Amino acid sequence: MLLLNQHLKHNDTSDELIELIDSLMLSCKEIAIKLREGALAGVLGTSEGVNVQGETQKKLDIISNDILKAVLLDNPTVAGVASEEEDHPVPGNPDGKYLVTFDPLDGSSNIDVNVSVGTIFSILECPEGVSGGDDSAFMQSGRKQVAAGYVLYGPCAVLVMTTGQGVNMYTLSHGGDFILTEEAVKIPEQTQEFGINMSNQRFWEPEMQSYVNDLLQGEEGPLGKRYNMRWVASMVAEVHRILTRGGIFMYPWDKRDPAKPGKLRLMYEGNPMSFLIEQAGGLSTTCYDDIMDIQPEKIHQRVAVGLGSKAEVETMLKYHVKD
Ligand code: AHG
Ligand code: MN
Ligand code: MN
Ligand code: MN
Repeated sequence: MLLLNQHLKHNDTSDELIELIDSLMLSCKEIAIKLREGALAGVLGTSEGVNVQGETQKKLDIISNDILKAVLLDNPTVAGVASEEEDHPVPGNPDGKYLVTFDPLDGSSNIDVNVSVGTIFSILECPEGVSGGDDSAFMQSGRKQVAAGYVLYGPCAVLVMTTGQGVNMYTLSHGGDFILTEEAVKIPEQTQEFGINMSNQRFWEPEMQSYVNDLLQGEEGPLGKRYNMRWVASMVAEVHRILTRGGIFMYPWDKRDPAKPGKLRLMYEGNPMSFLIEQAGGLSTTCYDDIMDIQPEKIHQRVAVGLGSKAEVETMLKYHVKD
């Protein structure tokens, strides 16, 4: 049985990065406790707050965000953090080595119905001479990530993380330790499962409408096999299913707000999940290009997403060829 820190040391992870991951896990354990208390702690339901995304914040969005900010900004390795729930980056130690972006609670629309949610994080190096409170410090493509992962608060709490040497899974024990339970995760290349919010079908590009229509034709259609649809409305749960047994997950561009390429956010959803998916042998795209190649321009910029099993994403890409 290998503890998280033992496994990180075994993989030659630097002491500074281990110290930062320890802070992230301390925060996620505190969040997990709040989630488990639920109604008993009066933490369910919405707050009066509206975040920079225009979303009404759940009480637990704010609680989770506050826990992560307090713990991370107290860590000397952290130069600054950017969060879904913060309009602007928050500076930490001016001599800190790392920047952290996070989605404190992903899938929070599921909180009040007790369905899995998670915390997503991405770690970058802070550029020399740039404040960790400055947007410009974070304008780095997903290829620059030092580490990324999520903690899924499901029937069990699982940390899924990569430091660029593959993807590993660690389950939170009753005693409060993250213990290695899956090493070198590989996504099956083929799949018969797809996930997309079908209620947006009328807003998609024709390319996506045509692909999903063929998925729905099953054995009789051009794809020649039966597909099942899976949709949890928590990106962490969709990605965890794909890392565990394959699949394709899409949140594509839709015409309701043409200026926005999609609903999901690049810096703390698209990039960290893409790092995990690629490290596990899958593909993660905008439905046209690799997400991690995007040069960010804004902290909260959005990105269309089509990720998962390599062969299925390649099939989806064949429908998305702009002539
Ligand atoms: P968040 O709860 O952090 O705002 O993210 C929710 C995201 C993502 O988790 C999920 O895949 C997607 O929103 C679901 O969107 P719809 O409810 O519009 O389908
Ligand atoms: Mn949100
Ligand atoms: Mn999210
Ligand atoms: Mn969120």
